Amino acid sequence: MKQQVLEAFKTAYGDTDGAWVFFAPGRVNLIGEHTDYNGGHVFPCALTIGTYAAVRKREDTKCRFYSANFPETGVVERDINDTENDETKGFTNYSLGVIYTLKFRGYNIDKGLDIAYLGNIPNSSGLSSSASVEVLTGYFLKVLFDLDISNQDIALVGQEAENDFIGVSCGIMDQFIIAMGKKGHATFLDTATLDFKYVPVDLKGAKLVIACSNKKRGLADSKYNMRRMECEEAVADLSHIKQINHICDLNTFEFDQLKPYIKREVCRKRAAHAVYENQRTIKAKAALENGDIEYFGKLMNESHRSLRDDYEVTGKELDTLVETAWKQEGVIGSRMTGAGFGGCTVSIVKDDCVDSFIEMVGRIYEATIGYKADFYVVEIGGGPTEL
Ligand code: GLA
Repeated sequence: MKQQVLEAFKTAYGDTDGAWVFFAPGRVNLIGEHTDYNGGHVFPCALTIGTYAAVRKREDTKCRFYSANFPETGVVERDINDTENDETKGFTNYSLGVIYTLKFRGYNIDKGLDIAYLGNIPNSSGLSSSASVEVLTGYFLKVLFDLDISNQDIALVGQEAENDFIGVSCGIMDQFIIAMGKKGHATFLDTATLDFKYVPVDLKGAKLVIACSNKKRGLADSKYNMRRMECEEAVADLSHIKQINHICDLNTFEFDQLKPYIKREVCRKRAAHAVYENQRTIKAKAALENGDIEYFGKLMNESHRSLRDDYEVTGKELDTLVETAWKQEGVIGSRMTGAGFGGCTVSIVKDDCVDSFIEMVGRIYEATIGYKADFYVVEIGGGPTEL
């Protein structure tokens, strides 16, 4: 991939003199969905697939962008002082959002860059290609401009760029795991405090299989922001009864007592998902530490049901993938992963059943939905690096 991204750089800018190469991973969340902006726990892993960049510093303040994933777009020219999310300029907004946020925080970025990206995360899959670009950008800026910034702060800058520059009110999970991931481990993160623990992932003769629904994710960002507002409304309704910062400050017992005070039924359902999902995530971490993969799988299945029935972010495509997966031999657990509304599922499948799983789920999905799903057997990788 290093060679390929340098080739892409050469295609865009004529030579590779003075270019550095960097990588940042994509991510998959094992459990703990839509809990991160609710002050709960998440349990994601970084992947060995991700985004590569070849980068060279310039003498002026121009930023030129090229992505080998969107060659038809060609080279897009912007400036490090651009302050606008220009939707006609696609992925470049993620990088510019990070430059803007770093400068806003007082970091000195005074020169432009020539950048070529190349990603092997499937586009729009929900495996966080945008957070991968954000963290990658933060990381190469740190190296090239010698910025005194930790990987954890790069994650926070990426989230701020996404929230304030792009306009998606995402939580911290994606940027955090991409910046902080550890090979072979899942990261148990308390999003209220940013305390985290690495837990080795030993699936005892099984693999992580990702199925990408290939559904076009129309209006996903606005539906995502809506879910967040519904949870905040539930917290506001409860504030007269109990002072909490986030809905996941409540355990399931407290929540069940207080839920009649949440006025709107829809907000009660959203809050119920977040509170129960948070507790499932805590149990899942213990299950993995205890080597109880079967229980871990059951919690994944429950997570999906709750995302389907209470949070309502699955849809026919993800439900078909997961409900078909549940019926296959050797499946320990299966659920949607990421924001939902399309995107991917993650399943734990016994080694010798992986081929038949991919064939059967693929066939039934295509017959039901009318187009194909893509499957990836993934490995858990580490955080960003220079290559
Ligand atoms: C997206 C967001 C994350 C998180 C998930 C849902 O991936 O970027 O912050 O909220 O959805 O768990």
